[in-house]
Amino acid sequence: MTTVTTGTTTAKGSVGTAHTRVEGRDKVTGAARYAGEIPFAELAHGWLVLSTVARGRISSVQDASVLGMPGVLAVLHHRNAPPVETDYIGLLGVRPDPTAAVFQHDRVPHVGWPVALVVAETSEQAREAAEALVVHYEEEPHDVAFSGSRADAYPLDAHMPAVSEKGDLESELAASAVVLDAEYTTPEEHHSPMEPHAATAFWDGGRLEVVDSNQGTTWVAGELAKMFSLDPASVRVRSEHVGGGFGSKGLRAHQVAAVMAATILQRPVRVIMTRRQMFSLAGYRSPTTQRIRLGADADGRLRALEHHCLSLTSTVHEFIEPGAGVARAMYDADAHHTANRLVRLDVPTPTWMRAPGEAPGSFALESALDELAEKCGIDPIALRVRNEPERGPVSGLPFSSRNLLACFREGAHRFGWADRDPRPGLRREGRWLLGTGTAAASFPAGAAPSTAVVTAEADGSFTVRIAAADIGTGARTALTLVAADALEVTPDRVRVRIGDSDFGPAMIAGGSMGTRSWSWAVMTAAGELRERLALGTGVPPEGITVRSDTSAAIGALAQKERHAFGAQFAEVAVDVTTGEVRVRRMLGVFAAGRIVNPLTARNQFIGGMTWGISMALHEEAVRDQSSGGHVGADLAGYHVATHADVPLIEADWVDDPDPEDPVGIKGIGEIGIVGAAAAIANAVWHATGVRHRSLPIRPDRVLPGATGAPHA
Ligand code: MOS
Repeated sequence: MTTVTTGTTTAKGSVGTAHTRVEGRDKVTGAARYAGEIPFAELAHGWLVLSTVARGRISSVQDASVLGMPGVLAVLHHRNAPPVETDYIGLLGVRPDPTAAVFQHDRVPHVGWPVALVVAETSEQAREAAEALVVHYEEEPHDVAFSGSRADAYPLDAHMPAVSEKGDLESELAASAVVLDAEYTTPEEHHSPMEPHAATAFWDGGRLEVVDSNQGTTWVAGELAKMFSLDPASVRVRSEHVGGGFGSKGLRAHQVAAVMAATILQRPVRVIMTRRQMFSLAGYRSPTTQRIRLGADADGRLRALEHHCLSLTSTVHEFIEPGAGVARAMYDADAHHTANRLVRLDVPTPTWMRAPGEAPGSFALESALDELAEKCGIDPIALRVRNEPERGPVSGLPFSSRNLLACFREGAHRFGWADRDPRPGLRREGRWLLGTGTAAASFPAGAAPSTAVVTAEADGSFTVRIAAADIGTGARTALTLVAADALEVTPDRVRVRIGDSDFGPAMIAGGSMGTRSWSWAVMTAAGELRERLALGTGVPPEGITVRSDTSAAIGALAQKERHAFGAQFAEVAVDVTTGEVRVRRMLGVFAAGRIVNPLTARNQFIGGMTWGISMALHEEAVRDQSSGGHVGADLAGYHVATHADVPLIEADWVDDPDPEDPVGIKGIGEIGIVGAAAAIANAVWHATGVRHRSLPIRPDRVLPGATGAPHA
């Protein structure tokens, strides 16, 4: 028996102090293994073959010659693959995207649809054979033309109603002293995590195991169990380290194909997506066309607000990018109309990506606010102060807390906003025109039920087990600090184990809800364990284990408007001879709940703001209308912001503990990107006097006279 003394080593101040990542050393020394590099005996390698046509039917898969190639073990396709179940309710109460249910029929709904898996002894043999595999198609005409004038667009209720309407829009617009009516567009964007999707599947004593790179092991395990009609307890998914996800790492074709092959061959099978395949198979952000109409009194008070967002989805699954949702949280108006609409095309199914809805929606809305400020002749921050709502503009519900104006006050002070001359196109430094811009940010603050297991070990240490995912966020470290405080010990006595579906149900790393949801469960179990230890009975050799389940506590939360907020600032320089835009500095000030680990939190915010630069200036996947596929589907053709594009970015926060969260957390995963692109676009206007309503702000759009360029 070891007596755990919580008195002598009491520590209760870990949350809120800076800690380097607990797995940081493993990552930088290469000791941390990622899903695609964990060794397995008898490992076979699968290589996916994707359709080259955008619509039609597979008429034949010429697998016979490929089966004779060196090392080839199997070729799976719609004629020989095992059937799987897709008629079930999955995560968030919706049917799964059937795109993951590979090789179930001969229909091809888009370019890049998985049509076969070639399995071989080595990855090179699998690739060689996959590239040699001839597939014949009966091709049909396809339609990939996305535009704001599609007559077949329809509203879709997803996790929010498609349409909200309050008041008489036309009469409020007619009564407005100032009216803005503008269309904004954002392009198709891809998650582009550093680590590609990778899974290894194998059977171990009647249990299916999958070693994967994902944002939620219990999520992927649950979907695989349903899809393969297995007892949930007989499926285990692990995902120890994840090199980025951004919304793309859920159930996808690679895991399902690997499970099929492992089942047939009865040996471990690994399937890794290539970067090029990720452009078809990993999901993406739909392009959007957004129309915003604002009507205001001369002093800037909004009388009318209309925000319509059109996005696209595939013909096999409905996913909507709800860009108009952000207006429902941000600004009130006597007449307030929003709508999210969808059009179905012969393209892959999009998915959640980096603040889905808020990221493109805030580009349009916060650009429109800036245009309105210009028309009203008032400062953009003053305009936002004037339109700060008391309650949810559409819901009428109170805000749990709303510290947006504190962010603007602090940000304006630190950025030097007071000295800004609002007139555009005046500041010049050599060949550069200079400007500054600002925008507001918000993102929903939610929590979802999770379970955690905390054990007091006989050696005086503690082990936390929770099926959390650290996709590069620092979640593992944050949970270590939360557990340490709840146990009243120093963090070095706490070991947090994550990324294993055997640890029980838990929220995914998504919706900026991971760390908050997991912390709640860890705090609950650890707090109860500390109380048990305080009774002083000592710890037996097998330890003392406490489990928690936050379903009831989270289910009891009252209905409120719960959001994190932020103020974004950017300074840009625009080269008038080349059209190049360079961001010179950015500042983001956030009200995003209690900050668990300032070091990794700053990193999260800066990462989000960097994605904002990327969204504003670089990212754009171009779909070729005639082939239906991408032009340049790789990281050379699809540029994401790199070090050379990123200037000094500062991120900080105001005190904003969530009063209803046991730790005070709101969630910081996504808010960093929200408003960032608008702040940059508004700064480009301030520099040049030209509004850019289509992203990205490419040089050819900046240069007057170039094709498609707007003119001052
Ligand atoms: Mo995030 S787009 O909720 O993974």
